[in-house]
Amino acid sequence: MKKILFMLGISASVLAQTPITYYEHIQPIIAKNCAVCHSPGGVGPFHLLTYEDVAKRSKFVAKVTQMRYMPPFPADKSFQHYANERGLKEEEIELIQQWVMQGSVEGQKAKSKRVLDAFSMANDINKRVPDLTLKMQNAFTVPNTGVEEFRYFHVPTGLKEDVMVEAIEFLPGNRKVVHHSRVMVDTTGRMAGLEGMQGADPRLAEFQRIPMADEFLYGWVPGNDKIQFPQGVAKKMSANSNLIMYLHYSPSATTQTDQSEIHLYFAKKPVEREVKSLILHEQHITNPPFLIKANEKSTFYISTKPLTEDISAISILPHMHFLGKTFKAFAITPEGDLVPFIKIDNWDFNWQMTYQFKTLLRVPKGSVILAEASYDNTEENPLNPFKPARDVTFGWNTTSEMMEMVIYYVSYQPGDEKVKQ
Ligand code: HEC
Repeated sequence: MKKILFMLGISASVLAQTPITYYEHIQPIIAKNCAVCHSPGGVGPFHLLTYEDVAKRSKFVAKVTQMRYMPPFPADKSFQHYANERGLKEEEIELIQQWVMQGSVEGQKAKSKRVLDAFSMANDINKRVPDLTLKMQNAFTVPNTGVEEFRYFHVPTGLKEDVMVEAIEFLPGNRKVVHHSRVMVDTTGRMAGLEGMQGADPRLAEFQRIPMADEFLYGWVPGNDKIQFPQGVAKKMSANSNLIMYLHYSPSATTQTDQSEIHLYFAKKPVEREVKSLILHEQHITNPPFLIKANEKSTFYISTKPLTEDISAISILPHMHFLGKTFKAFAITPEGDLVPFIKIDNWDFNWQMTYQFKTLLRVPKGSVILAEASYDNTEENPLNPFKPARDVTFGWNTTSEMMEMVIYYVSYQPGDEKVKQ
């Protein structure tokens, strides 16, 4: 107890007089960290908005926060910090524990200014109007078959000239069923046949042969609705771009429709630096072939050539499917120093996201970027799509595998280390 009080910075006498109450201590934590998903239209299985919502399952809330199962965030925060990272502070976890031990006291609603309406806080997003809103051409009907669906959609932009995009936002049309999405850009016009095509469709092999203009414009998972680049930095989108939206729909027992959309915000001030993408994938593996044998655990490595300039990394997005277990990426400088990018010890297919570094991350000229990904193709892996296990190799559909990593970056400028995202 003494240790806890010390960490909370609260003296024992104060605590004795002031019990930990919901409105005073707990609501701000729930509003900031939980309400975004545990609210109407959110992905969480129940709401955490009122005292009753939280008190009713307070022991459960204490347990999942102590285990650090909630809020979900797969990357190791002792390896690198991100602008969009989620997680409770040690003190906050302890406060919840104490509150529950003291009997989940409600307290006085109007007592403090910190009493916030959790839902309005969860929805406090940037009010700017998008410059271009792009919707799926037709609403897609998610059947009531209770199986998950992986579908591709072709969305023309109608852009007649190049534009500079400084923020991107994805809005799922139906949060009940849209599980996650990946948005790519094609400029060849040859992917128009993708309307609602299934992830397992053999014709996809044809499309895969066409190199994408942008293999990863944006990746959406619940609670990660937007990316905004730092001041003066933007991503170029060419005239005649078409978006390819890849949507993963959750199994549904009722028929649902979805027409998801993406919002693009154009740069209003002159753009000094253009976002570039460093995309590393199976072709860069240093221990090929990319074959994950049945009943085996395999690890693959990627290594780049030395960088020809100093760069500032903005974000990283690792990508694997259901056999993926761990993912680690970093750079080694010519002096032998480590620049940590990401470490995921327990890969979760459901929580793939664009991890935006807390400040721009300098990677000096001459550095080599390395990645390591491990896969479990045994039957002990509960997510293995095949029982008995089969040999698995590269493919876009989720029963095949991928090892991919997208790093957004700009050329380095002095002072970038201080640029907060
Ligand atoms: C990014 C979205 C997201 C955030 C943020 C989030 N949750 Fe959840 N939560 C979910 C989803 C999705 C599930 C159901 C799937 C699962 O259990 O993983 C869930 C499940 C739960 C469960 C049930 C766990 C179980 O085993 O059934 C509890 C309790 C919970 N969340 C509490 C919280 C609390 C408390 C917070 C804030 C500290 C929080 N969640 C933040 C998405 C979220």
